[in-house]
Amino acid sequence: MEFYDNGGDHPMTPEQGEVVISLKNVSKQYSREAPAVSHVNFEVREGEFVFITGETGSGKSTLLKMIMRELEPTSGSVNVLGYNLNRISHSRIPKFRRNLGVVFQDFRLLTDRNVYENVAFAQRIIEVPSQKIRRNVTQMLDMVGMADKYKRNVTKLSGGEQQRVALARALVNKPYILLADEPTGNLDAETAWEIMQLIEQANRVYGTTVVVVTHDRTIVERMHRRVIEMKQGEIIRDNPLEDLDNNEEQMLENDYQMVQDVDADDYGYYEN
Ligand SMILES: Nc1ncnc2c1ncn2[C@@H]1O[C@H](COP(=O)(O)OP(=O)(O)OP(=O)(O)O)[C@@H](O)[C@H]1O
Ligand SMILES: [Mg+2]
Repeated sequence: MEFYDNGGDHPMTPEQGEVVISLKNVSKQYSREAPAVSHVNFEVREGEFVFITGETGSGKSTLLKMIMRELEPTSGSVNVLGYNLNRISHSRIPKFRRNLGVVFQDFRLLTDRNVYENVAFAQRIIEVPSQKIRRNVTQMLDMVGMADKYKRNVTKLSGGEQQRVALARALVNKPYILLADEPTGNLDAETAWEIMQLIEQANRVYGTTVVVVTHDRTIVERMHRRVIEMKQGEIIRDNPLEDLDNNEEQMLENDYQMVQDVDADDYGYYEN
C-alpha cells in the first residue's frame, strides 16, 4: 500500500497479516444495567475485511466507538495500530485518529459546502499542501464516481451520492483502517450494494483494513467475508474467512459428489 503525504506519523507501519486491532476481554457498562459489551475478544489483521452483525442493542456501535477511542472500556484492553488505547493521552488521540477513516449511516457531511470541499477538508486538517490536495481529492472523487459533481452542494445530492462523498472523505487521507457503522442503513438495496462494492474496492486496491457494522443480511451473505455476530454484548459467532473457505470447499465437494452420482445414474440408465 502506498501512502501519500498525510502529515501524520504512525507508531507502526503494519505489514500484511499483522494484528492492527486487538480487543482483550473488553467490557463496557454505561449504567448499572446489563453491560453493552461483555468480555469481547477478537483480533483484526492488516488488510482484513470484517463484518460486525447482530440485533439492535447488541453492542455493535459501542464496539466501534471503543476502537476509535470515542469511548473507553470499563474493563479489558483495546489496542489499535500499536496504540494502547487504555493508556493513550488525550493530546495524542487526534494523531491516532488520523489513521482511521470513519463512515456513518447518516453521512455527516458539512452541509454548507460542496462535494470537493467536503473531501478536501479532511486533507486540510492534516495540512497536506494544496497542490497535493487537488490531486488526491480528484483521484478520490473519481474512485467513488462523483468527479463530475464536485461543485455540487452536498444537500443537493441523493443519499447514495452523499455516502459516496462521505466515503471519499473517509479514504482521502489513506487511512490504515476504515470503520463504518451501518453505512448502507439509509439506502435502498441497489445503492447499498454499490456503496459496499466501493468499500470492498478500498480494501482490495488500497489494502485498507475494513470493519463494517451492518444489519443487512443480504450484503453479508453476498460478500463472503469474516462475520463477527454479537448478541447482548457478547460475540456469539466469529467466522474467519478460512472457515467460509472450508465451507465452500465442502460445498464444492458435495457438488462434485452429486455430479458423480448423476453420472453413475446416467451410466446405469444407458446400461439397462
Ligand atoms: N450512551 C449510552 N448510555 C447508556 N446506554 C447506552 C448508550 N449507548 C448505548 N447504550 C446501550 O448499550 C447497548 C448497546 O448499544 P449499541 O448502540 O452499542 O447497540 P447496537 O448494536 O449498535 O444497536 P443498533 O443496531 O440499534 O445500532 C444498548 O442496550 C443501548 O441501549
Ligand atoms: Mg448501532
